[in-house]
Amino acid sequence: MTAAYEYETHEYDVVVVGAGGSGLRATLGMAEQGLRTACVTKVFPTRSHTVAAQGGIAASLSNMGPDNWQWHMYDTVKGSDWLGDTDAMEYLAREAPKAVYELEHYGVPFSRTEEGKIYQRPFGGHTTEFGEGPPVQRTCAAADRTGHAILHTLYGQSVKNNAEFYIEYFAIDLIMSDDGQCQGVLCWKLDDGTFHLFSAKMVVLATGGYGRAYFSATSAHTCTGDGGGMVARAGLALQDMEFVQFHPTGIYGSGCLITEGARGEGGYLTNSEGERFMERYAPTYKDLAPRDYVSRSMTMEIREGRGVGEHKDHIFLNLSHLPAEALAERLPGISESAKIFAGVDVTKEPIPVLPTVHYNMGGIPTNYHGEVLNPQPGNPTAVVPGLMAVGEAGCASVHGANRLGSNSLIDLVVFGRAAAIRAGQVVDPKSPNPELNMASVQKAFDRFDGIRYAKGAIPTAELRLEMQRTMQADAAVFRTDKTLKEGVEKMTAVAGKMGDVSVTDRSLVWNSDLMETLELTNLMPNALATIHGAEARKESRGAHAHEDYPERDDANWRIHTISRVEGNEVELSYRPIIEDPLTTEAEGGISLKRIAPKARTF
Ligand code: FUM
Repeated sequence: MTAAYEYETHEYDVVVVGAGGSGLRATLGMAEQGLRTACVTKVFPTRSHTVAAQGGIAASLSNMGPDNWQWHMYDTVKGSDWLGDTDAMEYLAREAPKAVYELEHYGVPFSRTEEGKIYQRPFGGHTTEFGEGPPVQRTCAAADRTGHAILHTLYGQSVKNNAEFYIEYFAIDLIMSDDGQCQGVLCWKLDDGTFHLFSAKMVVLATGGYGRAYFSATSAHTCTGDGGGMVARAGLALQDMEFVQFHPTGIYGSGCLITEGARGEGGYLTNSEGERFMERYAPTYKDLAPRDYVSRSMTMEIREGRGVGEHKDHIFLNLSHLPAEALAERLPGISESAKIFAGVDVTKEPIPVLPTVHYNMGGIPTNYHGEVLNPQPGNPTAVVPGLMAVGEAGCASVHGANRLGSNSLIDLVVFGRAAAIRAGQVVDPKSPNPELNMASVQKAFDRFDGIRYAKGAIPTAELRLEMQRTMQADAAVFRTDKTLKEGVEKMTAVAGKMGDVSVTDRSLVWNSDLMETLELTNLMPNALATIHGAEARKESRGAHAHEDYPERDDANWRIHTISRVEGNEVELSYRPIIEDPLTTEAEGGISLKRIAPKARTF
C-alpha cells in the first residue's frame, strides 16, 4: 500500500543537510557565490554538535614557533597510520592556514598571544621536523570553546549572505533518479508535522558522525549517522567504518569530553601508583602521543590492575599543578565540566577519565572536492552526480585509520569550503532543476509511514540500547577474532529486530518516539558496517587494534574498506588508497620518500 502525504516543494541550487561546522561553512561558501542555498537541519544551527568541540583547529600558522604545511601533512599521514588518501591530506594541510584566516576575518574570537596573533597550543601527534623534532603549537584556540565560537560566527555570516535555513527539519531520505543522480531530499518538519520536498542540483550531506551507535560517547544524542543511513538506503557505499576513535579523556561515568588541550597546556595522566605511565609507552611525545596510542596505553594500565578508583577501572588526568589563572583563561569550559560531571575542582584534584568513543574516521567516501564516490570495479573513484558529503559524515579520506586531535575542525572548514568551491564550478544557477523522480519520493514516504505505524513488540529505546551495548563490548579499543565474530552475529540479530520495533505515538508534531526510531534506522547501517569491516580486517592499524593480528600489514591491508548495507546484510569490497600527493617535490610539495610507510612510534 502506498502512503499518501501532502507536501510542499522547494527548489534550490544547493541544499545542505546539517548545520554543524562543515554544513555551515559549505552553506556560507555556496551563498557567497550567489547560489540559491538552503540549509536543512534537525537542530538549531548553534546547537549542532560542533558546538562541543573544545581544544581547537589545526593550521600551520607558525604563531608560536616554526611550522609549515609539509610538517602538518606529514603528521596527518603518520597519524592516519598510512591509510589516508594523500591528495586529500595535502589539500587539508595546505589550505588550513587560509581557511583559519578566513574564519578570523569572518569574526571568530580566537584567543590571542601577547602580540595579538591567534593563540596556538600543542595537541597530540602534531610535531616539527617531520616527526623528528619537539611537539609544535599548531592548534588555534578560542579558549576551550573553539567549536562554539566557529559555529556562532559561521551561522551569522550565512544569514548575512542570504542562505535560507530550515530549522528542526528531519531529513527522511535522498531522492535519487533511476540513473543514480541525487535530486533532492524529503524532510519532515518536526514542530508542525508538515513534509517538505527539497529539489536541488547539489545536495551536501553534513550530518555528522554516528557516535551514538555506542553506549558511551562524547557525541551528542543527535549524532546518529543520518547521512550514512540515507546513503546506505540509496544503495551507495560507506568507507573505512571500522575505524572508530576513542578519545582518551572522557569523564568517567558521563563520557563528557575533557579536551586534549588539557594535556596540551601541561596536564598529564597517572595510574594508581601515581606513575606518569605515558613515558613508558611513548617516550618522546608522552601524553601528547596520538589518541589511539594514548587510549590503548590507558586501557593496558587498567587491564594490568593499575587503574584508579574503587573498581580500578579508570585513570586520572592531573591539572592541579597548572597555575589557577592559566586554567581560568585557557580551560574554563572543562574546569566547569569537571565540576558538574565529576564533582572535581581541577585546581585541587585530578579528573577521573576513561577512553570514550569520540569520532568516526570512516563515513561516506568522497574525493577532496567533497563529491561522493560510488566505487565500482575498474573505477574506484566514480562520482555520484548531485551529491556531496563533508565533515564527520564524509570520508575524504584525510584521517585514515586515526585522526589527530584538532584535525577535525580544520577538516570541517577546509572541506566545507572545498565543496562550495566545487559547487561553484559544477552547479549552473541558470539551468532548471532536474525533474524529480516521483517513485523515489513515494518510496521515502512509504518507509516513513511504515515506521510511523510500526506495531512490533520492541520499544525503540530497548533496541537502541542493545545495539549500543553490543558495539561497546565487541568493537572496542582492543578487538579480537572472537569479540568481532560475536559482534557480527549479535549485530546481525539486533538489526534483524528492526522489523519488530514498536512506535507508540502516531502523531506528526514533536513526535520524539518516531524521530528516535528514524534515527535508529540510520544508526543501524553505520553500526553494521563498522562491525563487519572490523571483523574482516586482519591487521592492526590506527584505531583498529586487533589482538590476534597485532602488526600493520601494508602488503594486504593498505586499502579502504567499502561497505554496502541492505537490511542486516553487509557486502564488503575494497578500493586502493590514493598514494600520490597533489604536487611533486619539484613543485614545492612533499617527497614520496618522506611519507613512505614506516613503523609508527612516538
Ligand atoms: O580534545 C579535544 O578538544 C577534541 C578535539 C578534536 O577532536 O579534534
